[in-house]
Amino acid sequence: MTFSPRVFSGIQPSGDLHLGNYLGAIRRFVPLQETHATIYCVVDMHAITVWQEPDALRRATREVAAAFIAAGVDPKRSIVFNQSQVVQHAELAWVFNCIARMGWMARMTQFKDKAGKNSENVSLGLFAYPSLMAADILLYKATHVPVGDDQKQHLELARDIAAKFNNDYAASIAERDLGIDGQFFPITEPLIAGPATRIMSLRDGTKKMSKSDPSDQSRISLLDDADAIAKKIKKATTDPAELPLELEGLKDRPEADNLVGIYAALSDRTKAEVLAEFGGQGWGKFKPALAELAVAVLSPMGTEMRRLLEDPQTIDAVLRDGAERASAIAEQTMTQVRDIIGFIR
Ligand code: TYM
Repeated sequence: MTFSPRVFSGIQPSGDLHLGNYLGAIRRFVPLQETHATIYCVVDMHAITVWQEPDALRRATREVAAAFIAAGVDPKRSIVFNQSQVVQHAELAWVFNCIARMGWMARMTQFKDKAGKNSENVSLGLFAYPSLMAADILLYKATHVPVGDDQKQHLELARDIAAKFNNDYAASIAERDLGIDGQFFPITEPLIAGPATRIMSLRDGTKKMSKSDPSDQSRISLLDDADAIAKKIKKATTDPAELPLELEGLKDRPEADNLVGIYAALSDRTKAEVLAEFGGQGWGKFKPALAELAVAVLSPMGTEMRRLLEDPQTIDAVLRDGAERASAIAEQTMTQVRDIIGFIR
């Protein structure tokens, strides 16, 4: 027996969704609906690890849900919900806080980056964040998690937590016959693939495109209109050389590599295929082609997001329905976890 294939992924409602979130994650959620049971979550509890204005949090939560739907996630086929409506996420995260070791958490580069020199003064939640992320995934015994490259270390930690739980409670799991080949939780596989696992800033090819970059020119927001999308691409920083004919030629050219990767991901091609078409040409040819493609893909999506956001009640109803379906699975897992641990119920 093996765990049945199930996908889980989450996006934080903590600011403007951008092209990196779309290409690294959301766009890839859509085809997985054909092959897997799929659960897509707006992780509002993760967002409050740093301060969020309540009204802005509500708005951003609906925005992420609208982006899922506008991108092609079907809330009937997939479970789409916001994390805080399914209380078992917090419950399992506590259990995992008692499984994970301080040293494991202290090694997380994202925490170190976010906390910076201020590590005494950030929230305890920010430090424990990966434990909640492991709970998100394992509550549904998800086998596959599509994410961008920046989440790799967190997913490795989730695997470590699952393995330690399986191991620490092996006897109890076996006694209750709750394991598959001795494992209660699956050792989840990250799905980090394709040409867009790490989209870089349009201003600086060595920096990740991010919600927290102070420069709005550094990222394309999913709510940017056609004009803004085209302008940002045309103004993107590049070196002066023409595009290379082969992949090799993108080495040490981070800006060129990034823009070719974006073109490839938006057109469902490989970078090599894009170079076969544009290699040898200058930016004066490539940038307008990229701008046209980006507008063709992103601008209808932005329009659909704005349309959905005009009716917040409908979005909230989708999230509530998703939360009910998610809760049914989550409660089943938690009942088993309580028994395994020795909690009386
Ligand atoms: P978050 O909200 O920062 O980002 C959401 C998704 O977008 C991807 N991403 C990128 N991909 C390519 N290039 C970029 N520049 C870029 N920036 C962001 C991220 O890798 C992610 O897939 N901890 C997670 C949210 C989370 C989660 C989970 C994910 C919570 N629980 C369970 C998967 C499974 C986060 O902060 O993502």
